[in-house]
Amino acid sequence: MPAYKTRLDRFLATALQINRRAVKPLLATGKVHLDGQPARDCDTIITRFTRVTLEDRVLQDHAARYLMLHKPAGILSATKDAEQTTVMSLLPSALHSRLHIVGRLDKNSTGLLLLSNDGEWSNALMSPGQHVEKTYLVRVKHEIGTECVEAFSKGIHFPFEDVVTLPAHLEILEPTLARVTLTEGRYHQIKRMFGRFRNPVLELHRTSIGKIQLDPTLKPGQYRALSADEI
Ligand code: URA
Repeated sequence: MPAYKTRLDRFLATALQINRRAVKPLLATGKVHLDGQPARDCDTIITRFTRVTLEDRVLQDHAARYLMLHKPAGILSATKDAEQTTVMSLLPSALHSRLHIVGRLDKNSTGLLLLSNDGEWSNALMSPGQHVEKTYLVRVKHEIGTECVEAFSKGIHFPFEDVVTLPAHLEILEPTLARVTLTEGRYHQIKRMFGRFRNPVLELHRTSIGKIQLDPTLKPGQYRALSADEI
């Protein structure tokens, strides 16, 4: 979603159906408030999340939303799908408007899924240049060999895209359980990386994205708003 920013005079002219020249005298009355403070300048830049009021009239009030969901297996990480159940079915419809997913998980993957209506925030978090760390617990079918650790850290060539994956950290926790940390998000990335060792992934669970950890009190299917610190 593109970040929405506009000049205050343009916003008011449209919202009130008045000429832009009429905005300056209106602001001089002190009756227009932005997030509770009187607005003075026509060229003030507002966003979609700025609360704009004219006396008792609310002209714009879109709350920014930042949610974490404990995604259960078997549900699609999408906002819409013609046939399959999506993660939106786990959220009340009052929260659906303009919500998008910040870093998808495969249908059978579980764990931390972020959703927001603030495109600027999600881009800052997930744009490829940011290299934000995403951590997963991965259960595989066969014992994980130490050669995997080196291969993951060197990078694995994906012939379809002709790219080498960025260095990934693989920590073997049990013979068939590992913690994997990626700084990118390619299609089925972890499954394809283990696939190179003919080791099918049985369970894949995301525990963190950057500094945001999946809240251990959330059961599969439950969600909560992010705290100010997490945002
Ligand atoms: N890698 C995968 O293969 N699947 C996911 O859902 C996430 C990372």
